[in-house]
Amino acid sequence: MAATEQIKSLIKSFGDGDADRFFSSALQIAAAEAQKGHTTLAQELKALIDKAKQNHNQSFADRSRTIPILASQRDLKELLDVFQPKIKLKDMVLHADVREPLEKLIAEQKNWQLFQQYNLSPRRKLLLTGPPGCGKTMTAQALAGELGLPVFIVRLDGLVSKYMGESIAKLTMIFAAMNQHRGVYLFDEFDSIGSHRNTGHEVGEIKRVLNSFLINIEKDQSNSIIIAATNMPEVLDKALFRRFDDVIQYPLPTAEDIISIIKKHLQAFSILKKPNYSSIAQMAEGLNYSDIVRACEDAIKEMLMKGQTKIDIQDLIHGIAKRK
Ligand SMILES: Nc1ncnc2c1ncn2[C@@H]1O[C@H](COP(=O)(O)OP(=O)(O)O)[C@@H](O)[C@H]1O
Ligand SMILES: [Mg+2]
Repeated sequence: MAATEQIKSLIKSFGDGDADRFFSSALQIAAAEAQKGHTTLAQELKALIDKAKQNHNQSFADRSRTIPILASQRDLKELLDVFQPKIKLKDMVLHADVREPLEKLIAEQKNWQLFQQYNLSPRRKLLLTGPPGCGKTMTAQALAGELGLPVFIVRLDGLVSKYMGESIAKLTMIFAAMNQHRGVYLFDEFDSIGSHRNTGHEVGEIKRVLNSFLINIEKDQSNSIIIAATNMPEVLDKALFRRFDDVIQYPLPTAEDIISIIKKHLQAFSILKKPNYSSIAQMAEGLNYSDIVRACEDAIKEMLMKGQTKIDIQDLIHGIAKRK
């Protein structure tokens, strides 16, 4: 029998709709059986998990394909990546200064009908700035997850380089789509059009796209959420900032955040020896959230490959050191 903790984690992750945790708990049960010498059962479990994972990914892909916008408009399909995220804000570790405006947006969005009676509109335009790997893209997904909306990711660098000369028409199409299909529209790597310092032969085109963006976002009356994200706010044109309801700055994780991220990611597993979290956090200082998540995943993989059932915290430390 697998340890009760693992079974509890399995059931809890299913209840939470957390597929990643569900599969990692299931793998852990398989690993435990392998370690007890129940090789056939372990292999059987592993095969079942692989199959379930495949089906899960497939049904996820099918669902995003049925979002109507992309089936009907081929041009848009090339500009937008669309999917229905399941993550929530609680899956993220965020500073109060970041969490508060996001919670406010969600609360206002949930009250839009009430606001409408008074001719008010809910917050829906955000500019997210900060270093890479701190959760800007993830936030767009979490907001969509909270509101039950699809997320549409616009790749702007592609827009400008691929559609030179046509990019304004394409941008207008994206804004038109916001009216037809309520969703969270993420203009990721926004600096590629929002910059006032662009040089080179594309500069004229980029300036025109930026102007067109400014005009479009100003007159937009849709029910969609518009999010622009950039690692380089200092290059953004000043005219942009006042077009957004909130400008949110994403900092690198503090020691406390680092500990929360590690605990969150390793919660489904037992740990070999009680870790000294504060010294690990000190070691990881300066890394972004993404690096820390990856280091946790490395430690889990090492455990699985060694056929063990407990995380060796040295593997985590090694993963952190490697990323410094
Ligand atoms: N605040 C956060 N809380 C939890 N996980 C995070 C956070 N920020 C980043 N991550 C992890 O790092 C990955 C990359 O983050 P991402 O949102 O793409 O960063 P950014 O867009 O700021 O560059 C995420 O998929 C997630 O696993
Ligand atoms: Mg990003």
